[in-house]
Amino acid sequence: MHKADPSRCSAPTPLPAIAASAAPVSIFAVMEAVPFRVDGKVALATGAGRGIGLAMARALAAAGAAVAIQDIDLDVANAEVARIRSQGGKAIALGGDLSDLTLPQQLVEQTVAHLGSIDILINNGAIQSNGSWLEMPVEEMQKQFDCDLLGPILFSRYAVPHMKARKWGRIINIGSIQQRGANPHMLPYSLSKAAMEKFTMALARDLAKDQITVNCVAPGWINTWRNRDDFKTEEETKQKGRHIPLGRIGIPEDFAGIALLLCSEAGSYITGQTIFVDGGLSAH
Ligand SMILES: NC(=O)c1ccc[n+]([C@@H]2O[C@H](COP(=O)([O-])OP(=O)(O)OC[C@H]3O[C@@H](n4cnc5c(N)ncnc54)[C@H](O)[C@@H]3O)[C@@H](O)[C@H]2O)c1
Repeated sequence: MHKADPSRCSAPTPLPAIAASAAPVSIFAVMEAVPFRVDGKVALATGAGRGIGLAMARALAAAGAAVAIQDIDLDVANAEVARIRSQGGKAIALGGDLSDLTLPQQLVEQTVAHLGSIDILINNGAIQSNGSWLEMPVEEMQKQFDCDLLGPILFSRYAVPHMKARKWGRIINIGSIQQRGANPHMLPYSLSKAAMEKFTMALARDLAKDQITVNCVAPGWINTWRNRDDFKTEEETKQKGRHIPLGRIGIPEDFAGIALLLCSEAGSYITGQTIFVDGGLSAH
């Protein structure tokens, strides 16, 4: 059993216990005490110029965080940063290919240099090669493991000391529905995503004493740039959505709520979990 060292735990704000309270407490006090806000926090989201990472970064920016938006396509990251700034938010754009393992240290340092700290890390960026595992070149497999698994480990390694110093932190690792299935045509990808679940659990136990929560958010089938060939027309998207229990393909904005829950004080007692945001696809 993991033993928390109470002397190292900062005391979180107690929530009003309505039922146990002798004095009548307004039911609205709960919402006031559990704000879905991240004012003053600094977030770094990788692969976030588009799609799920972008929706999460936007939600955090709207809820008061300064955000570092990383993407290999610096133009899309810059365009989003301009949009956030024009609406009064604070943001920077960071470039680079996530399969370059020198990047995590550099980008964490740049985030801290420009935005002052790093409190929230969204390990979102990932590449995905499909093909027979019997024929996939070793270099291609290695690149995926570097980008999708080693990269998030290193980003966390460099970000965590900044979180520990403040005794507060949030890490969200983006997994996939593929971490539960067995898909021989995307072996390095699904293995990396499956490993994210264990990585999340291990880190959650290790970092709990510093009030750093670590969770994995696993998307189902989402209409994003990487899947643009699957959803060429509205009709095709609707048709494919019929295979999902909730009756539709996911959209990036479906990830805004989970980002706010896990990164704000509202989620401060959730750690080590994998949460599927998949319209019910994994529920069988
Ligand atoms: N879309 C889905 O259906 C789905 C399903 C399961 C899991 N996921 C996971 O969700 C995360 C986000 O996926 P998405 O669908 O939002 O992606 P997306 O394709 O919409 O956007 C990904 C962004 O990452 C950038 N990028 C690509 N390669 C990069 C690299 N090597 N270095 C840096 N940036 C790079 C792209 O330029 C793009 O802007 C990924 O971890 C993915 O594995 C997505």
